[in-house]
Amino acid sequence: MAAGSAIAAGGAQLEFRGVTCTYDGPPVLQDVTLRIEPGQLVGLVGPSGSGKTTFLKAALGLVKPVAGTILVDGQPVDRRRALLGYVPQVETVDWAFPVTVEEVVLMGRATQLGPWPWTSRRARAEARGLLARLGLAGLERRHIRELSGGQQQRVFLARALFRRPRLLLLDEPTSGVDIRTRHEILHLLAELQAQGTTIVLSTHELNAVATHLPYLVCLNRRVIAHGPPAIVFRDEILSRLYHAPLHVVREGDVAVVIDHPWRAPAEHNGAAESGDALEPEHYRSR
Ligand SMILES: Nc1ncnc2c1ncn2[C@@H]1O[C@H](COP(=O)(O)OP(=O)(O)OP(=O)(O)O)[C@@H](O)[C@H]1O
Ligand SMILES: [Mg+2]
Repeated sequence: MAAGSAIAAGGAQLEFRGVTCTYDGPPVLQDVTLRIEPGQLVGLVGPSGSGKTTFLKAALGLVKPVAGTILVDGQPVDRRRALLGYVPQVETVDWAFPVTVEEVVLMGRATQLGPWPWTSRRARAEARGLLARLGLAGLERRHIRELSGGQQQRVFLARALFRRPRLLLLDEPTSGVDIRTRHEILHLLAELQAQGTTIVLSTHELNAVATHLPYLVCLNRRVIAHGPPAIVFRDEILSRLYHAPLHVVREGDVAVVIDHPWRAPAEHNGAAESGDALEPEHYRSR
C-alpha cells in the first residue's frame, strides 16, 4: 500500500499574524508573520534555540502566543486540531508509557476509531502498511522503548500519517536516520505534498534536506528570511541566521552550504599523526 493513498487530499492553510511566544522570559518567537498556503512544503531552519520547535508547538496550539494570532484555514487552531498531524523531536519524548509500535500508530486516530483496543481490522492493516512503507515491518509488536531513535522517529511519522492530516508538522524528522531512510522520508513527504497536504518541517540539515525543499523559512526568534533555497541560501542571510561564517556555493540547481569545520590539532590525532592509518592487514593480524 502506498502510505500516501491514505491521506485525504487538500491541505490546510497556516497563518501566523504578529505572533510572539515566551516561556515566562524574553520572547523566543517575536512578531512572526507568515502565511503557508495549502499544499506548500516548507522547511524551518535556524540554529539551536531559535524557536523552531516553539513555532511548531504554537501552530499545534500547544504553546499559546502572548501576542498575535494563529489561524488554520482561517480558524483558531483549537477548532482545527483534527486537521493536524505532528511528529515531535524524538529526544523530547518520555517513553515511560508501556505501548507497542502498532498501538502508537493506532493512537493517531484514537478519537476517530473509538476507544482502543476495538480497532477495526482495516485500520490495523493500514497501520501496518504505513509501518512497512517506513521500513518498520515486523516491529509492530515491539515495545516502543526497544527501538532506536531513528526507528522511533518513523513510528511517530506513521502515527501522524495515520491521522490523514491536512497540515503535517514535523520536528526534525530526518535527524538520526540513515541516508536511505532520509531519502524514503523525503520522498514520502513529496508524495504527500503532491496530493495536496501542507507540510512544515524543521531541520538542521542544510545540505542533505533544506536545499532540496521548495521553500524555506529562516527563523531566529524572528523570521530572518523566507523563500526558495536559491533565494535564502546566501552568505549574508545564513551568516546572519547562524551567527557563524557560512559560504554558499552553487552546484547546478542546488546550493551547497560550506562551513569552516573545526579540525583537531595534528598532535591530538593519534594514529593519523604518524601517518600509520590502520590497514586491513593490521586488523587481520590482531
Ligand atoms: N518548555 C520550555 N520552558 C522554557 N524555555 C523553553 C522551553 N522550551 C524551549 N525553551 C526555550 O525557548 C527557546 C526556543 O526553543 P526551541 O525548542 O523552540 O528551539 P529550537 O529551534 O527547536 O532548537 P533545537 O534546534 O535545539 O531543537 C530556547 O531558548 C529554549 O531554551
Ligand atoms: Mg527543536
